[in-house]
Amino acid sequence: MIVTTKKLFEAAYGKYAIGAYNINNLEQTVGLFKGNLLSQAPFIIQISKGARAYTDKVFLEYLIRAADEVYPEAIFAVHLDHGDEEAAMDCIESGFYSSVMIDASHEDFETNIAITKRVVDAAHAKGVVVEAELGQLGGVEEHIQVAEADAKLTDPKQAKEFVERTGCDSLAVAIGTSHGAFKFSGSQSLHYNVLAEIQKELPGYPLVMHGASSVPQEEIARINAAGGNIVGAKGVDADQFKPAAKLGVTKINIDTDGRLVWIRVHREILQDRPEVFDLRTPGKIFIDEYAKFIAEKNEYLGSAGQLDKVRVLLAE
Ligand code: G3H
Ligand code: 13P
Ligand code: ZN
Repeated sequence: MIVTTKKLFEAAYGKYAIGAYNINNLEQTVGLFKGNLLSQAPFIIQISKGARAYTDKVFLEYLIRAADEVYPEAIFAVHLDHGDEEAAMDCIESGFYSSVMIDASHEDFETNIAITKRVVDAAHAKGVVVEAELGQLGGVEEHIQVAEADAKLTDPKQAKEFVERTGCDSLAVAIGTSHGAFKFSGSQSLHYNVLAEIQKELPGYPLVMHGASSVPQEEIARINAAGGNIVGAKGVDADQFKPAAKLGVTKINIDTDGRLVWIRVHREILQDRPEVFDLRTPGKIFIDEYAKFIAEKNEYLGSAGQLDKVRVLLAE
């Protein structure tokens, strides 16, 4: 069942975070639904602009509609990840997305507010919820390069003003994470102090953590042992999810870790089973491994086992 994030966030606030996972194809979609049902978790499907352009956005819509039919017990939101105004408006108009992200965080404060407000007004008129972003993550964000040294953490006072003036339903905050597999150099970590300040300014308001992949070192080691060459990769410790959830983070975005599962499965099968030429062989292994990965992530997020409670809340 496709829902907005509103009730998902209400149920989660202060206790756990909902996993927001990016998809691009059929195998990811099936693994995602299986993993969330395996762990009995509500979830958010994220579709980036790149994913919409990879084949055609229509394929993703119908894949998700099909999965909704095949797995009727699943409860999830369909969300545009890092939309610009054009993509956000397109998703709002489509009647399919229950949530959109407008990411104008690279603009100055007033321009970010103006763009976000236009999207919020259009979305709310159609019953769609909006995530916006304030502050800049380090690393690579869609097409925007932000040098680690210039990464700007979210200003808590500005966050309050931004939410009040735009009416956005959730806010992605910059607290030291970045996208991709190379998040931290040296001993950098999450800035819980900033998160706590933001929560003080916006009590009860849902915050979003982007760039939350853990980049497990054993995954990197397996990829490299099977011919990969990923050096110096480092992610967010998944034990940090629950403390972040206590401080108001209700949505945690994970994409890179899923890509690592895909590349590990395919590298290993190409190396270990040279006789294989049936594409369904790696496909099946990936679906199972991805489902396992999602179920494990949901344990760290605390969303595992919450599906029935959310179902009850939605029925109220
Ligand atoms: O934040 C970006 C997501 O990881 C999506 O990546 O734009 O390459 O699909 P993508
Ligand atoms: P990762 O690159 O850490 O998986 O972050 C994904 C993300 O924030 C998508 O919006
Ligand atoms: Zn992101």
